[in-house]
This record gives sequence, structure tokens and C-alpha cells, in this order.
Amino acid sequence: VIPSLKEVYADRFAIGAAVSPQTIVTQKELLAAHYGSLTAENEMKPVSVQPEEGRFTFEDADRIARFAEEHGMQMRGHTLAWHNQTPDWMFVDGQGQPAGRDLVLQRMKDHIGAVVGRYKDRIKVWDVVNEAVSDEGPQLLRPSKWLETAGEEFIRRAFEYAHEADRDALLFYNDYNECHPDKRDRIHRLLKSLKEQGTPVHGMGMQGHWSLQRPSADEIRAAVELYASLDLQLHITELDVSVFEWDDKRTDLLEPTAEMLEAQERRYEEIFGLLREYSGVITSVTFWGAADDYTWLDHFPVRSRKNWPFLFDRNHQPKGSFWKVA
Ligand code: XIL
Repeated sequence: VIPSLKEVYADRFAIGAAVSPQTIVTQKELLAAHYGSLTAENEMKPVSVQPEEGRFTFEDADRIARFAEEHGMQMRGHTLAWHNQTPDWMFVDGQGQPAGRDLVLQRMKDHIGAVVGRYKDRIKVWDVVNEAVSDEGPQLLRPSKWLETAGEEFIRRAFEYAHEADRDALLFYNDYNECHPDKRDRIHRLLKSLKEQGTPVHGMGMQGHWSLQRPSADEIRAAVELYASLDLQLHITELDVSVFEWDDKRTDLLEPTAEMLEAQERRYEEIFGLLREYSGVITSVTFWGAADDYTWLDHFPVRSRKNWPFLFDRNHQPKGSFWKVA
């Protein structure tokens, strides 16, 4: 028999998966058996729920929320303020000029109020601000429309608006390259300053888009310790283990090699061994998908290249990696 991942980990942390209106159909049984938490892969992002000012489109998001409810699953809300998948109208005024700070913040407030308010009974955790920290430095924040129009306070404001919309929700900052030493220190700097200003931020979301080699276990550990030192809960929010390193641009592989799968088993064993050491600090681990039949990595960073990042294969059968984790 195949043990249920969420049951195996019940005393440690929640196990989650990102889903779409398609995968809640095609992966229904697998999701129901192993995952206790869902994240909408795209359907709750600003461009999905408010494509035009004041016109809200919640059908797909609702479908996912309903599926979660029917299966007794929690949900992580993703995401409220981001530089991607956010409609341009938010940053433009009636004359087609860049909108001023007050207008942009008012729109942010309306957006966050509507989305967080709608799911108040069902979603108690939100990725409020996504990927605001720069990859390169020396500047702390990445260039974005939010930064350009509203200034750096857009981050604090987003958390305040989310907190006003739901006083009980746990509010997360979420980012990638979160274990890279330089970026880790910048993220830490941002979170520390938010906390010092009394911002209602309760957690750090470590995306966890990792590969067979990177980041190293030592880097993961150092990042976990640093974020935890700020007295924040940690969630792994978008875990996948690419079988390709970042600079590997091969597109010809139709199946993973035996070496890749073996390396992936060792890697998952290492990762979950480490995460288990921090259960209590890490309270949720969400994969950015559930099984190798569908992953965003099939299109990123290289177009039309199959990847096999999960614990279940294309037929939803457990891989060697599953057994290491379970
Ligand atoms: C990705 C989705 O998986 C894709 O389907 C979409 O085309 C682009 O966004 N970091 C995040 C996620 O926070 O929202 C991104 O999701 C992956 C990287």
C-alpha cells in the first residue's frame, strides 16, 4: 500500500500542492490522497481576478476553493502584490499617464480588500507580497511598477490592507532564490525593517524552486535559521526539484535518465531530512504541482522542454523519491 503523504507528515507540517482548474480534474484522486493544502497556481493572481478596474472574475478561483472545501483541505492564497501577472490599468490614470501614489495605493487597497474578503472563511494564509527583493543588489528592491508609482512603502501597505481585510489571516512575504546568500540577506533586511515598523507580517514563504545541486543543504539551513531568527513562521511554498541545472539548456530528453532519478531521490531525502529537523518552525510544505504529467518547468526557463520535478510520475505512480520522503 502507498502511504498518504499528508498523513505521514501530519505531526510535522502540512503538505500542499499548486493546482489549476485542469489539474483538480486530471489529478483529483492523487490530490485527495496526499495533499492537505492547495494553492491556485495562477487563478488568484491580480490579472486573473481583476483584469479591468472593478470587474472581478472569480470563477476559476472559486472552483479551486470549492474543491479544497469539498476535500477538507486548507488553502494558501497566492498572491496580492507582485510585479508579474498584474494588470497595467492599476498603474495608469484616466489620462493614460502614470498613476499617482494615492491612486495606486487606493487600488491596491480595493483589490486586496475584495480578494481577501471574498475568501475570508476559507483562506487563512496569504502570500501578500511576492518577489519584491532584487536578485542583484546593491539596491534592496527590484524595479517594478509598484515601486515606481507607490514607492517602497507599497510593501508595508499591502500587509496593512490584508490585515484590515482579515484580522486572523497569517500574512506571508514570498520569494525565490531565497537561499542565495546575498539575496537571503536582503530579504532578511526587508523583513526585519517591516517588523520594526510594526507591519503585520507573520511568515516567510521560501518558494523552493530548487535543482539537484542548488542550493546546497548548508545554504538551505542557513536561510531557514536566518528567517526563523525573526520570529516568523516558515512555509516552503513552491517546491520543485528540477532535473536540469539552471545553465543546462538541453531540450532533447524525452525521459529522465536513471542517473537523474537517482540523484533526485538523494536530493529529496536530503531536503526532507533537513525540513523535518525544523518542523515547528516550518509549518507547511507546498509543491508547485503534484505529478510529472504537468509542471510549469515544462516551459521555464527553457520553452517546451519536459521536466520531472515531483514525487509522482506522469501516471501518478510514486517515484523512488516518494519513498524517500514518505
Ligand atoms: C508561475 C505559474 O506556474 C505559471 O503557470 C505562470 O505562467 C507563471 O507563474 N513564482 C511564483 C509563481 O510565485 O506564481 C509562479 O507561477 C512561479 C514562480
